[in-house]
Amino acid sequence: IAEDGAAAWLRYAPLTDSKLYATLPTRIVSMDNSPTGSAAAEELRRGLTSMLGRNFVVSNAGTGAIIVLSSNALLPRETYRIRRGMDGLHIEGSSAAAELYGVFHFLERVASQKPIVNETQSPAAQIRWSDEWDNMDGTVERGYAGPSIFFENGHVKQDLTRAGEYARLLASVGINGCNVNNVNANLQTLSEQNLRDFARVAEVFRPWGVKLALSVDLTSPQVVGGLDTFDPLDPKVAAWWQSKVDEIYKLIPDFAGFTVKADSEGRKGPSQYGRMPADAANVLARALKPHGGVVLYRGFVYNNHLDWNDKKADRARAGVDNFVKNDGTFESNVVIQIKEGPIDFQAREAVSPLFSALKKSNVAIELQTAQEYTGQQRHMVFLPSMWKWVLDTDLRANGKTTPVKQIVTGHTFPNADGSPRLSGFVSVTNVGSEANWLHHPMALANLYGFGKLAWNPDTPLSQITDTWTRMTWGNDPLVVGTITSMLGKSWGVYEGYTGPNGMGTLTNILGYHFGPGIESAERNGWGQWFRGEKDGIGMDRTSHGTGYAQQYAPELAAKYENPAATGDDLLLFFHHVPYDYKLHNSKTLVQSIYDTHYASALAAAEYVPQWSALKDKVDADRYAQTLKLFQFQAGHALVWRDAINNWFQRISGIADALGRVGHD
Ligand code: GCU
Repeated sequence: IAEDGAAAWLRYAPLTDSKLYATLPTRIVSMDNSPTGSAAAEELRRGLTSMLGRNFVVSNAGTGAIIVLSSNALLPRETYRIRRGMDGLHIEGSSAAAELYGVFHFLERVASQKPIVNETQSPAAQIRWSDEWDNMDGTVERGYAGPSIFFENGHVKQDLTRAGEYARLLASVGINGCNVNNVNANLQTLSEQNLRDFARVAEVFRPWGVKLALSVDLTSPQVVGGLDTFDPLDPKVAAWWQSKVDEIYKLIPDFAGFTVKADSEGRKGPSQYGRMPADAANVLARALKPHGGVVLYRGFVYNNHLDWNDKKADRARAGVDNFVKNDGTFESNVVIQIKEGPIDFQAREAVSPLFSALKKSNVAIELQTAQEYTGQQRHMVFLPSMWKWVLDTDLRANGKTTPVKQIVTGHTFPNADGSPRLSGFVSVTNVGSEANWLHHPMALANLYGFGKLAWNPDTPLSQITDTWTRMTWGNDPLVVGTITSMLGKSWGVYEGYTGPNGMGTLTNILGYHFGPGIESAERNGWGQWFRGEKDGIGMDRTSHGTGYAQQYAPELAAKYENPAATGDDLLLFFHHVPYDYKLHNSKTLVQSIYDTHYASALAAAEYVPQWSALKDKVDADRYAQTLKLFQFQAGHALVWRDAINNWFQRISGIADALGRVGHD
């Protein structure tokens, strides 16, 4: 396997110490000849042969010591079981895809030199998707690793080799769906020709148990179908969607469903006809239901022409304001896909109150592996640290312990019969044609970590970083220790030199969302405001301000009404406070900002010598590529530090107590 990063964490590098697996039989018997069953057997053969340096073979039958791959219909949905029997090792799955998950898990144990134990694993939720914001012209919206692996020149690519390899990578961490086109969907997505081409993508995904999904524009009945309306309540429109969906399933029998962005950022939607999100979602859902498909209707609906002078205006309120009135009216195969925070993937936001406000609707959490506002894969930021913080946040719905992970796995507000709601996890990933998919070798840990948390949101972060590092960079103790420690602190470091205190968007929002552009978020209709003024800074979202805090359950609302109880990490998200406001760390806000920015920029600079110490322990190409990125990050962290500290000095008129001025 070339060390260019394409293999990501599936390198299967030869183990220096393989004692633990010395007795593993070399004959793999697969009872399942489906494409997925065969892919599982071949993956196992390839992985074990490469790691253990013995020749593993796949055969249809065999006696003596063997590894058996088989289906076991008694296991719950998508579940695998690994057990040692008298005759060898068994990897069983409730389906061929589940067998495949078992194989990948088994290979991961070997790659990270863990003992093989008997175990049974099921995913926490049914929806575990990756969304790609690829345009049919081959560009990728908010993609930072080169052109699309799916499209070029307005069409699906002829050569879909990379698309198939990507599905393998997704399957290796249990991701079972992939939406390949931008949520800002091409209006012609559902044309006959395009659907035939999408069927080719579904075909290369299929062996890996990854189902194809598509983003669709709600005007399709008009634009593609030639109708005079796209009003979701018009029977012609419903009939059009039904026949379009039937056409899709003829071509793609395992089609996963639609993602919908409507009435948001210029996309048309049901509001044009005075209809509600549920009217639009349901018309698609009814067409998909007989085929087993779902609609992921995005909760990211807001007005981007807000009035800056209106102190009650607040983009953060939009999710709850737009969706709660529809709660309980969505079809059973509609899922509201909610971004983790109410604004837009900032380095830290409060958790969206929509998760606890929808009590009778299916929900999924949307996380962004693409580091749009978090350094665009030029900075190392291990996002699972943030996601875990989000997933563990207790929203106190109904006055009970209800962490987000319990809500998005369907348990907090179950179906009427007590079964968990249809629910889950979506990653906006935006891989590209660069060999290593995401540009920064460390960014792959985010995709890997997403899969692990979607499978089991209780997976410890240390387990994610440890296993990913061993699979990606090897088992050398210095390598493992250094990389896991760098990843572990990287979110805090990034937040520290960009941040701070839940202030929100400081990246340049008018351009590429990269680098500091402190005031670009202010005084415009986008509503990513922090209201930095002479008297103080922060959005007042309490009942004296926009009232956003009241969208949470009462216990949390009370907490967020009170600056001291809110906590320093989200202070400016909820409160407008003076610059000399005293934080819990007993520093003034502004001094704490100065100090944090110096300390965090220094921590980023330290990645360079820390990484350099691994020079002889990792392959030269990836070593050099990563070193360059760390050098860039060290410099860019200084740019951030000085931009923010200078801005605070100017606006607050308060000098740094330690007398530091920029880079000296
Ligand atoms: C962000 C992002 C857009 C994207 C939007 C969305 O605003 O910058 O590119 O279209 O989110 O999630 O729909």
